[in-house]
Parts: sequence; structure tokens; C-alpha cells
Amino acid sequence: IEVWLQTFSPGSQTPIHRHSCEEVFVVLKGSGTLYLASDSHGKYPGQPKAFPIFANSTFIVPVNDVHQVSNTDSSEDLQLLAIVSRPPVKV
Ligand SMILES: *[C@@H]1O[C@H](CO)[C@@H](O)[C@H](O)[C@H]1NC(C)=O
Repeated sequence: IEVWLQTFSPGSQTPIHRHSCEEVFVVLKGSGTLYLASDSHGKYPGQPKAFPIFANSTFIVPVNDVHQVSNTDSSEDLQLLAIVSRPPVKV
């Protein structure tokens, strides 16, 4: 596994992406939105679900599920600990 401490400034986000490994993340501080398309194993990922995230939110992102994490707050950083299996990650 790898463990990443990630900080998103207000209004910033990851690209919309998926990877061939599982990911777990725990929000340490701030708030935002996780977009997760759980039915994404076909050619097109379909409509994502939006989950509000905040301190202590914990998510498992299954292998290959398309997702995006966004800091939707206008003033506070969003910080999280992301744990991914089977590095190197192919995005
Ligand atoms: C997160 O969990 C810690 C430890 O239980 C607690 O002290 C803190 O208040 C929690 N934060 C929120 C926003 O729930």
C-alpha cells in the first residue's frame, strides 16, 4: 500500500479518474464533495453520486470506480489521508 496526505485548497479538486487499485480515504479536516460513479465498469461511467464529506468521513473507493474529490468550501483547506493498494497506481 501507499499512504498519501493530500491537501486541496478552497475550490480545487482531483481530476475525474479511476485506477486499478482500491482506495480508502479519511478526511482529516475541511469539507467537500466526493463524486462516485459506482456503476463504472462499462464503457461509460454513468451518472455519479455526490456524497458530502467532512472531518472523519471515511470512504472505500472500489477498484476502477470513477471518482473525483472536490473541496467545495470557499475558505478552508480540505485535507485527507488516502491509502491505495497495489502501487504503482495506473490512473
Ligand atoms: C472526529 O473524531 C474525533 C475523534 O473521535 C473527534 O474528536 C472530533 O470531534 C470528530 N470531528 C467531527 C467533525 O466529527
